[in-house]
Amino acid sequence: MFFGPTVLPPAEWHGRVVVVIDVLRASTTMATALSHGARAIIPFDSADDVVTRSKSFERGDVILAGERRMRAIPGFDLGNSPLEFTREAVEGKTILLTTTNGTAALASIQGAREVIVGSFVNFSAVVTVLRTAARGDVDIALVCAGSERQFSLEDAVCAGRMLRALSRRLTSATLSDAARAAMVLERRYARDLPSLFQDASHGLRLAEAGFGDDLAACAALDAHPVVPVYADRQVTRLGTDRGR
Ligand code: MLT
Repeated sequence: MFFGPTVLPPAEWHGRVVVVIDVLRASTTMATALSHGARAIIPFDSADDVVTRSKSFERGDVILAGERRMRAIPGFDLGNSPLEFTREAVEGKTILLTTTNGTAALASIQGAREVIVGSFVNFSAVVTVLRTAARGDVDIALVCAGSERQFSLEDAVCAGRMLRALSRRLTSATLSDAARAAMVLERRYARDLPSLFQDASHGLRLAEAGFGDDLAACAALDAHPVVPVYADRQVTRLGTDRGR
């Protein structure tokens, strides 16, 4: 269990199933896009990298998306609001995405057995994969992307909920102090996800910036039951063929 983006050598991730959690909003946006038929999402560090890579696609096949300071990047097709990633907008497209924290957190995981993207909207689908991993004694790591390198309440609570869902499988496992802390926090918000976003600093920032409707979309438990898998530098839906 890790709070904030973490730079560990590939050997540390080796053999682990890693879940990257950025509830507000990158993880939610990725799950929404794949659930609505996007072909793949390719994460990038910078807007310039997105533009450069877009030149290797037919314009109609690709969507340039992302945010800085929560707002859409000028000239891009979409920002990072999950509500923009409708079926009409994304079906069959490859999305080139850059966000402040979420895409960087994904790219920071190298050498894991499997990297998946978790949030509330695909919670149960991700837990199903984690239960299978736990049954096979595979080590699980939950990485909370955080916000501007700081702890994020909503990511920790989502991680805590995953741990609670796995708890029958975890009794013999060693839980880190961070994992125990996430489970304690989760109990506080278990029945009231909307109040979680009212307390979370990034939730407040999003509401102030006019993205209040995104908070309801990010709290919609299991609305998009997909498992986004990050491999070969792209995120695709578990069970679909990989493109380029
Ligand atoms: C991020 O990756 O930093 C977030 O998803 C920011 C946002 O709310 O768009």
